[in-house]
Amino acid sequence: MAEGGKASRGMMEDLAWVRQVRGLLEAQRDMGVTEIWVPDAWGELRREVEGCRRCPLWRSRRHTVFGSGDTRAGMMFVGEAPGDEEDARGEPFVGAAGELLTRMIKAIKMQRGEVYIANVLKCRPPGNRDPLPEEVEACKPYLLRQIELVRPKVLCALGRVAGQTLLGTSQPLSRLRGRVHRALGTKVVVTFHPAALLRNPGWKRLAWEDMKLLRREYDGLEI
Ligand code: URA
Repeated sequence: MAEGGKASRGMMEDLAWVRQVRGLLEAQRDMGVTEIWVPDAWGELRREVEGCRRCPLWRSRRHTVFGSGDTRAGMMFVGEAPGDEEDARGEPFVGAAGELLTRMIKAIKMQRGEVYIANVLKCRPPGNRDPLPEEVEACKPYLLRQIELVRPKVLCALGRVAGQTLLGTSQPLSRLRGRVHRALGTKVVVTFHPAALLRNPGWKRLAWEDMKLLRREYDGLEI
């Protein structure tokens, strides 16, 4: 309930929607329907990724790395590709870069479980080399579908590959970070990849500016 006990417009719409669905279900029950089929978009997508052979990376992977977190999050992070630990565990950002990402999320007063985290590539490129353009193209539909399902208020691209992929540009990271873009039906903030921050701690001050911008956009405040 909104402050002062008043229901917001969004809540009223939700309520109307719930009543409509209940009416439909009751009508079905009255007609003798005893089972309903609920489409499981996330389960279907996950299974598709697990069996993916769209590019040769499937041959060397131990696990696909689908994504993790709150599938209804208002904030979504997109990294580049799984590293060795992620490939071993099937979870994104669980290595050293992941630890830093968790700290970056906490620094803007969010918990890791409150956001959704995915990568451009769902399989590890051997030796952690940069993703090839054809790998990005093959894998991109999975990421776009994840974004469509989460419908975040704001997306944070971690590094050049994520930024260029989400924004459909070849501009360098230096031109992409530090401002708010509009793409894929949402707002996009680009910042440094945590692994790059571990190698270049001097960039952390700029990354902090990006994180504050991300939080402001999430809160819906003007810059
Ligand atoms: N780097 C990424 O871009 N993604 C991960 O999941 C881990 C490291």
